[in-house]
Amino acid sequence: MGTTPPPGRDAVESPDLPTLSLEGSLADGVVTVRALGPDDVASLAASVPAGESAVWGPGPGPYSGDRAAGVVREYEEGRRSRLKAGFAALDAGGSFVGGLVLQAGPPTLEPGTIAPAWLLSLLADGPRAVEAAYWTAPPARGRGYATRGLRLLADWALETAGFRSVWLEVDPVNRVSLAVAAGAGFAPLGTLPGHCRDEPDQGPHDCRILVRRGGEPAGRG
Ligand SMILES: CC(C)(COP(=O)(O)OP(=O)(O)OC[C@H]1O[C@@H](n2cnc3c(N)ncnc32)[C@H](O)[C@@H]1OP(=O)(O)O)[C@@H](O)C(=O)NCCC(=O)NCCS
Repeated sequence: MGTTPPPGRDAVESPDLPTLSLEGSLADGVVTVRALGPDDVASLAASVPAGESAVWGPGPGPYSGDRAAGVVREYEEGRRSRLKAGFAALDAGGSFVGGLVLQAGPPTLEPGTIAPAWLLSLLADGPRAVEAAYWTAPPARGRGYATRGLRLLADWALETAGFRSVWLEVDPVNRVSLAVAAGAGFAPLGTLPGHCRDEPDQGPHDCRILVRRGGEPAGRG
């Protein structure tokens, strides 16, 4: 997930389209999810380790204070234009444990690529599809924060914000991320060969697309 919207995922202002503005917070007693904001700059700067890519944009950590402030500003602007939004995940004590991102629009294929049949329903959702991504700070991993946070955010996107589908793209070798997706009720749709690139200077890799649709049971969890 990059910082520049790919073609077809431009900013939209129409009030008829789904919102990315979460008022208040979502909570399940273990994790709380709320909009990423200026209060998160210090936590964000402190928590992304050197060499690790997080969800907010290309380029590995660590994040300087300026970079973290820029990320928060960028996602606040994205939220206002209904293009993308950042969210903080907090533990039961209110400490920052990770982040999630929503980016409006369906998967974007390279020009000239013929879409596989399994992708058509997601492409048809157009601006009512939204991609989700998640990241947990290393000391907080393995406690269910990503799974719970993703489930809360997907529920909100489908039941309150007005999206028809929430989708993920996951490297098929990322078993932990696939476990998060399954635990949050996402079902695999198919695999796009060579579709994803973790960093602009890295080669592409295959990408599994998973989806949760409104009005359908959320699967296991
Ligand atoms: C992937 C990531 C978000 C998972 O975050 P997390 O908060 O630790 O995830 P959860 O605690 O909700 O764990 C989800 C599942 O993974 C399993 N898991 C967690 N850490 C694991 C590990 N190190 N090895 C194996 N399984 C692990 C959990 O047991 C759980 O499986 P279960 O539901 O079958 O019990 C986190 O590892 C991360 O930020 N990684 C780097 C960024 C990334 O890969 N993001 C996803 C991009 S698509």
